[in-house]
Amino acid sequence: MLGDAMYQRLQKVGAVVKASDVNCIEDWLEYADVRDFNAIRKHILDFEPQLIINLAALTDLEYCEQEQENSWLTNAFGAENLGLIAAQLDVPYVYISTAGIFGGERDLYHDFHAPNPLSVYAQSKYYGEQYVRTSIKKHFVLRAGWMMGGGPAKDKKFINKIYKQIQAGATELCVVDDKLGTPTYTVDFANGLCGIVESDQYGLYNQVCGGAASRFEVAQEFVRLLGLADTIKVKVVPSDYFKSQYFAPRPASEKLVNLKLNQRGLNLMRDWKVCLQEYAEVFKADLLRK
Ligand SMILES: NC(=O)c1ccc[n+]([C@@H]2O[C@H](COP(=O)([O-])OP(=O)(O)OC[C@H]3O[C@@H](n4cnc5c(N)ncnc54)[C@H](OP(=O)(O)O)[C@@H]3O)[C@@H](O)[C@H]2O)c1
Repeated sequence: MLGDAMYQRLQKVGAVVKASDVNCIEDWLEYADVRDFNAIRKHILDFEPQLIINLAALTDLEYCEQEQENSWLTNAFGAENLGLIAAQLDVPYVYISTAGIFGGERDLYHDFHAPNPLSVYAQSKYYGEQYVRTSIKKHFVLRAGWMMGGGPAKDKKFINKIYKQIQAGATELCVVDDKLGTPTYTVDFANGLCGIVESDQYGLYNQVCGGAASRFEVAQEFVRLLGLADTIKVKVVPSDYFKSQYFAPRPASEKLVNLKLNQRGLNLMRDWKVCLQEYAEVFKADLLRK
């Protein structure tokens, strides 16, 4: 999801990019596995980068609960591996963390609030964040919220899950209103990331869209933007409704605010509704094609 936006953004400025993944679904991707230190070290050294951006992760919370060892190796050990290589090369290192590291005790979290990761995904990402912050001098740790981006083919998260139900002909969508967060558009995130890196102001930053919402509000807005508000009902259900499908623990609120980016004049994130309006166009076009 984010890799796609990041690649497009870097193309715009003419950067020479070596992009990799374990599942190479684009011709601009090469195979590399962040769990394999020696192989990825060679892969990176051959390229002589000026910057390393680690976007690799296992982001399915239920998968992470079930495949714990692989989740730690990818999200935490992978963060270490690329961090060690960045330190050896003395180049800046970007690691993406998540709003999911918070425990939901508060309504809203700024950059300095204390994390309390509940799930294996969140714990492994928090380990990665801590490692990078304490061990790598030239680091940028950027915390994203509810990611949206990549369109019908690449978006693995909430927007595309809603879209797939719509495509399948659903006239009623059951959506929780007891989970709060901050949508984060990959296009804006990639743009903001470039600005932060160019500033050389190393450190940890929350980077999410403006505003915040419940899952219900996001779904309702998405259906409205698709022009389907009259035909599709968005029904509120409690999280318990999905307890067998979404069994990983999730905080009641993972709403972030970009306190540090605002203070530094580096906040390039637009409001989530403006971003969703732009993003919904991709799905509208897809609906028309089918
Ligand atoms: N998605 C969200 O809501 C969200 C929210 C906050 C933060 N983040 C963070 O944002 C970053 C980018 O995630 P994303 O949203 O763009 O999700 P994504 O589309 O799933 O991207 C992660 C990529 O990493 C790949 N990967 C998995 N294991 C790997 C390995 N061992 N070596 C190399 N690559 C591997 C995945 O491949 P497969 O598809 O084959 O697994 C996937 O292509 C991650 O650090 C994630 O934790 C995501």
